[in-house]
Amino acid sequence: MFLLILFGCSVMHVYADDAAGVADLVLSCVLVEDGAAHGEMGGGGGGFSRSPATLVLRDVSVGSDQSLEALTPFIPASEPDPGLVLIEATVSSPEIPNSDLLLHADCNGQEVTCEMSLFSPGDSTKVSDQAFFMVSLSIEGADISTSLILQTLKVEQPTQRQTRLGLPLSQSGTVLSEVIMVVYSDVKSVTAPLKEDTLLPCNFKQRDSPLGPDVHIEWRVQHRGKGRKVLEMKTPLEETEGQTEMHAERSGSSVNAEEVVSEGNASLTLSRLKVSDEGTYICTITIGQFHAQQVIQLNVIQLPEVSLSDNKLVLKSDTTLTCHSSKYYPLDAQIEWYSRGPEDTERVVFSGKTSLSSHRRHGDGTFSLSSHLIVPQTVAPGTEITCEVSHPALDIPLSETATVKNPEPDSYWLVLGFLIITVLFFHQVMK
Ligand SMILES: *[C@@H]1O[C@H](CO)[C@@H](O)[C@H](O)[C@H]1NC(C)=O
Repeated sequence: MFLLILFGCSVMHVYADDAAGVADLVLSCVLVEDGAAHGEMGGGGGGFSRSPATLVLRDVSVGSDQSLEALTPFIPASEPDPGLVLIEATVSSPEIPNSDLLLHADCNGQEVTCEMSLFSPGDSTKVSDQAFFMVSLSIEGADISTSLILQTLKVEQPTQRQTRLGLPLSQSGTVLSEVIMVVYSDVKSVTAPLKEDTLLPCNFKQRDSPLGPDVHIEWRVQHRGKGRKVLEMKTPLEETEGQTEMHAERSGSSVNAEEVVSEGNASLTLSRLKVSDEGTYICTITIGQFHAQQVIQLNVIQLPEVSLSDNKLVLKSDTTLTCHSSKYYPLDAQIEWYSRGPEDTERVVFSGKTSLSSHRRHGDGTFSLSSHLIVPQTVAPGTEITCEVSHPALDIPLSETATVKNPEPDSYWLVLGFLIITVLFFHQVMK
């Protein structure tokens, strides 16, 4: 059975206890349930129904430098309503990463998106009244995302049950739970240059009493509908027992086992990036019967190299100037031509006749493109002709400039004269 709860929400209010450096985070949410599981018609896409829900994260630690005066405390209703989905989670261990960002998302007008699913871990013997929630949190505009696993806590002598979920409620009408595992990443996408090494961050934390003796890490990548495994690692969480097993499908990929054990750092290093490394990476952390994921997008870029066929142009009837933009990635490069006459202060788009070559693809996946410009003989000497290449990897377009020269008769005669003298000189010497 898979019950999905979606929180499309923003932080409602926060209660802070300055002395303890902790605060309560209250997320106002939307509960989306699988309609089929409840014999209901879906309220929208795919047979899911939506209803409001609230997630209260208790005792989230906050930095001492935070100003929390404007925050209002979370006060449970005096008359608990079992119809409300009010999930309360204690998060003192493990701590929620980037909680200060969550706390301030509301003030900054950023939307917090939180998705929650109720699940039954694999082969667990089901304890009555015990449930597990998977929550994923992200903040609009901030490059972080977090997955939490919540386990419900035992309620002593429950007087009420939540109507939809059937779970016992605390005195204040909440479903009590604790965070037992967190998987998080401080970036959602990484853009890295070809041939360099890059790091895809993925971190985890678990509660004090370990969920299992070892951690299993799997990195997969998906690109254009195809998925493959990048790396798999299993390592004991206690250094004394067992051996680390690592299997890298992509050569030059690695996860540092020491960092995994000491820091919960399961970040993936990819050495010498190739175009084929691009894709959506999924980091799955499994401890015992629990697993949680993070998704990170990897984009590969390579700056174009720009060159012109000539830097000085002496115009004839069919002078062509060629601009090469070579070895770039991704494909979207644009070549534009500009000119600036000797008297002009501003450049203008060149109105000559241009033609583009077709894109050439190299063995390493990069592209090249050339643009040919026919320069009319009427262009005044001293005019600068610029080829400008724009590419997503460039903040400012790259450019190369050629200058139109006088067809200088003086130097022509000078060279000719020099040649005649040389010939005469040798003629004399040979005799
Ligand atoms: C995580 O480990 C990698 C090495 O695998 C290291 O480069 C990186 O700095 C570590 N990240 C943190 C946050 O410690």
